[in-house]
Amino acid sequence: MTQHKARRVALVTGASRGIGKAIAARLSADGLFVVGTATSEEGAAVIDDALGEGGAGAALRIDEDAAAHALEGIVQRFGAPSVLVNNAGVTRDNLLARMTTEQWTTVLNTNLTGIYRLTRPLLRSMMRARWGRIVNLSSVVGRMGNAGQANYAAAKAGIEGFTRALAQEVGSRGITVNAVAPGFVDTDMTSGLTDEQRQAMVSRTALGRMGTPEDVAGAVAFLVSDDAAYVTGETLHVNGGLFSA
Ligand SMILES: NC(=O)c1ccc[n+]([C@@H]2O[C@H](COP(=O)([O-])OP(=O)(O)OC[C@H]3O[C@@H](n4cnc5c(N)ncnc54)[C@H](OP(=O)(O)O)[C@@H]3O)[C@@H](O)[C@H]2O)c1
Repeated sequence: MTQHKARRVALVTGASRGIGKAIAARLSADGLFVVGTATSEEGAAVIDDALGEGGAGAALRIDEDAAAHALEGIVQRFGAPSVLVNNAGVTRDNLLARMTTEQWTTVLNTNLTGIYRLTRPLLRSMMRARWGRIVNLSSVVGRMGNAGQANYAAAKAGIEGFTRALAQEVGSRGITVNAVAPGFVDTDMTSGLTDEQRQAMVSRTALGRMGTPEDVAGAVAFLVSDDAAYVTGETLHVNGGLFSA
């Protein structure tokens, strides 16, 4: 078992690309030992290389019940994470009238049930330590809605409810639970937008640009830090003024 006693261990799901990659890099730079996950061993190896001494990569799929087994392996290798960033997520966009059951269940199973699968088993060690930080990635779409994303909006609104409820359950144990809701961020997830769709979104954004993964990572780093010790059950919106909650 690798020991990282001097550093808190942070688990960041979906750290191979986009927002999760930036969160992993930021938390590692802030002094945490970061275990970043990807869905494949190849992705895990890329994270391993990127983090160097600052962390490690691991393969884990949050849409499968086998996630519990992969999680046990991570805890055995690196110790129990006291920081959990539930970042991994997917989209399967379609108008509801045309949406397939597969599109609905994939998004709910991955984005919402995936958070349940990882958070529940990690609570016990955080409660024992009387310290923990859980940050869940929501989306502006969970509040604002967006045509073609009823499945995704439902999952993200669900994440915010989950966040508020769990914050009530574990606050007395020194664990904070918060959500970060990004606006439109330049990653693979938004790469399918047409130039017209991008322009329309940017024109509605007060700051006049899409967000960067680093914009989101800064908000997550704050919620994980000691400066946010008295913030819990909250959703921090990072959307450049696209929408005011
Ligand atoms: N981009 C945006 O505009 C935006 C806006 C609001 C909220 N968000 C949210 O922010 C989070 C990150 O988004 P992103 O844009 O960075 O996404 P992304 O670039 O598409 O990256 C998704 C990440 O999640 C991992 N992943 C996908 N399916 C998974 C599964 N079943 N199990 C475990 N990991 C899985 C991927 O791993 P592999 O590399 O192995 O596939 C990858 O690391 C998501 O929760 C998303 O909903 C994004």
